[in-house]
Amino acid sequence: MAVTILGIESSCDDTSASVVRDGFLLSNLIAGQEIHRSYGGVVPELASRAHQANIVPVVDQALKKAGVGAGEINAVAFTRGPGLLGSLLVGTSFAKGFSLAREIPLIEVNHLQAHILVHFIRQDGSEGRLPGFPFLCLLVSGGHTQIIVLKSHLEMEILGSTIDDAAGEAFDKCGKVMGFPYPAGPEIDRLAATGNKKAFTFARPHIRGLDFSFSGLKTSFLYFLRDMLKEDPAFIDRNKPDLCASLQSTIVNILVSRLVKAAGETGIREIGIAGGVSANSGLRNAVTAEAAKRNWNLFLPALSFTTDNAAMIAITGYYKYLAREFSGQDVIPLARI
Ligand code: KG4
Ligand code: ZN
Repeated sequence: MAVTILGIESSCDDTSASVVRDGFLLSNLIAGQEIHRSYGGVVPELASRAHQANIVPVVDQALKKAGVGAGEINAVAFTRGPGLLGSLLVGTSFAKGFSLAREIPLIEVNHLQAHILVHFIRQDGSEGRLPGFPFLCLLVSGGHTQIIVLKSHLEMEILGSTIDDAAGEAFDKCGKVMGFPYPAGPEIDRLAATGNKKAFTFARPHIRGLDFSFSGLKTSFLYFLRDMLKEDPAFIDRNKPDLCASLQSTIVNILVSRLVKAAGETGIREIGIAGGVSANSGLRNAVTAEAAKRNWNLFLPALSFTTDNAAMIAITGYYKYLAREFSGQDVIPLARI
């Protein structure tokens, strides 16, 4: 019998619902929240309210697009955390209600694990190449920067994490200093394409092991610009592509050097990247070059699966359904995991 899972994601500022059947994607709807742009970052209170307004229509659309009736859903999976508590509460409560009403299992999903499991989503027409285990993944987004090993679909170990800002935050905060709207990552990526990445150098962290740090880079970038602006008030406008290329190259170097180190230490050659920053063209090119050099079996996510989406929650729910890992109605969301 086919297994059909409804996935719900509401951990930050995107309300998303997706239907996956037997590991194949049937639909993946995402309602973003423009409202945060003018505030320069996500405002938690506004995010929860927008989720509340979006969740029912988004689920409705996801079911329609998939051509699946509510009665055909075998289980509902939702993001339990990490994320913004008020946002998580909306998805969690919706999933609980759906599970009660349809008398189907409720499945909690760890958002980090889900970002990595996008590599296991099958789509009609895709080549269907899936990673083997153990699978080493660099997870980089606005909220997380981690090196994770998946030992099986449902077993993961975190080998390294950021001790301060996430990689996406480094893009966004440095972008803000240059006057870019939130989130600045995509615009920096675009401008970096025409800049010289060797034009400027910024501080790189000296952290042992497989952890990351980005706060020093942010400060170094800020002080550098402050000094330059004293001499030339138009410095940013005159040098945007070079600033973006140099900043991006520094962030990418920090990320890729850690991934290379982790691959060397573990001996794993099934390698992937995931999360919002995995859309970055500099990062994608750099890991592709390392993969060719080191004979990695590399997995780059489709761009539509890099940012937060419910397809990753539904696919994780699918594997948890097969393993009969269900949650009770007393499950509560967790801001941190
Ligand atoms: O995964 P995501 O949508 O949300 C979190 O879970 O955080 O990631 C959003 C982050 C933002 O910081 C955004 O600036 C960054 O991903 N991002 C990028 C690019 N596209 C999105 N950063 C660099 N280059 C990109 N092309
Ligand atoms: Zn995320």
